Amino acid sequence: MKAIVVTPGIAYSTRIIDIKRPEIRSNEVLVKTIRVGIDGTDSEICLGYYGAAPSGDNFLILGHEALGQVLEVGNNISKKSQSLKIDDLVVPLVRKPGDCYYCLNGAPDMCIGGKYKERGIKGLHGFMSEFFTEDPNYLIRIPKEIESVAVLLEPLSVVEKGIRQAWDIEKRIFWQPKIALVLGLGPVGFLASIVLNLLKLKVFVYSLEKESDPRVKIIKELGIEYISADTDIFKLSSIIKGNIDFIFEATGNSSVALKSMSLIGKNGVLCLTGVTGGNKKLTICADCLNLDLVLGNKIIFGTVNANKIDFEEGIKHMKIINQNNPSLLEKIISHRFTPNEFKQGLENFQGIKAVIEF
Ligand code: BGC
Ligand code: ZN
Repeated sequence: MKAIVVTPGIAYSTRIIDIKRPEIRSNEVLVKTIRVGIDGTDSEICLGYYGAAPSGDNFLILGHEALGQVLEVGNNISKKSQSLKIDDLVVPLVRKPGDCYYCLNGAPDMCIGGKYKERGIKGLHGFMSEFFTEDPNYLIRIPKEIESVAVLLEPLSVVEKGIRQAWDIEKRIFWQPKIALVLGLGPVGFLASIVLNLLKLKVFVYSLEKESDPRVKIIKELGIEYISADTDIFKLSSIIKGNIDFIFEATGNSSVALKSMSLIGKNGVLCLTGVTGGNKKLTICADCLNLDLVLGNKIIFGTVNANKIDFEEGIKHMKIINQNNPSLLEKIISHRFTPNEFKQGLENFQGIKAVIEF
């Protein structure tokens, strides 16, 4: 079968190879890959900044945002009605637990031991191959009605986790969030704005795109306000006027992340999601920032990966969004490539979201 692989640590080593189709163990299912999304993490791995091959292999099959269909079910998988069956649509989880307290208690996304593995990223092969095998505990069954957009469920799960945790944190008060600011209009920022809009917050988006960009048009049609990054970020408070209750940072730019700390409204919360390699430095007024955070009872937290419950919440939201606005989510998938065209999606990609169709 065809597989898109990289030698981790070596820039531009991404290539397509022919390997043996995986054989299923009795507790696994064999999945035929339908499509796999590409994100910033994949590009970072291709540039050699990030990623680790499975032990014993010198290459890593890329891809962690997948949709597939069950082709074969292992002998030990029960025939009970809840079990996965041939033809079921599935989206795989990315992270596998290590051995810390959180990993052993169903929250590998909150791992503190560092021994977690991630398919297509860290120590486990990903899904950019014609077939893959997986334990059903790490597969989410997908309703047919969201098949065309389910490849976006993994990035959506990251959004869902950030929102869930912010709302959980704010249980400290009788929080009544009204205004949300999303920073960045890549797929994660895009999905965050759609979900926050669905949750009836007044949403503002700040990003690099020009006003004429198609994605700006799409969010404006939803009643979301757009402010292009031609405007100085520190002017946002005066433009937005009201108290910014929630900020979702998804630019992948650490200086934007740091500057956004001064935009949080009173009692508000800032959720940081950008995975930034590098070692960028920035000078800030430490006293001003500290004072502002303290006097305003403000919260900042980081979030990575997602829990199974966030995938489930994502499915619920996808169904509602599809009902309200049938083509909205599909518009996020701006480019579709064949496996042989992998380079176009991974190197210097300029659209919203590229997927590889298997
Ligand atoms: C993935 C997460 C993963 C993170 C860090 C992201 O692109 O969506 O699932 O935990 O990268 O490796
Ligand atoms: Zn752990």
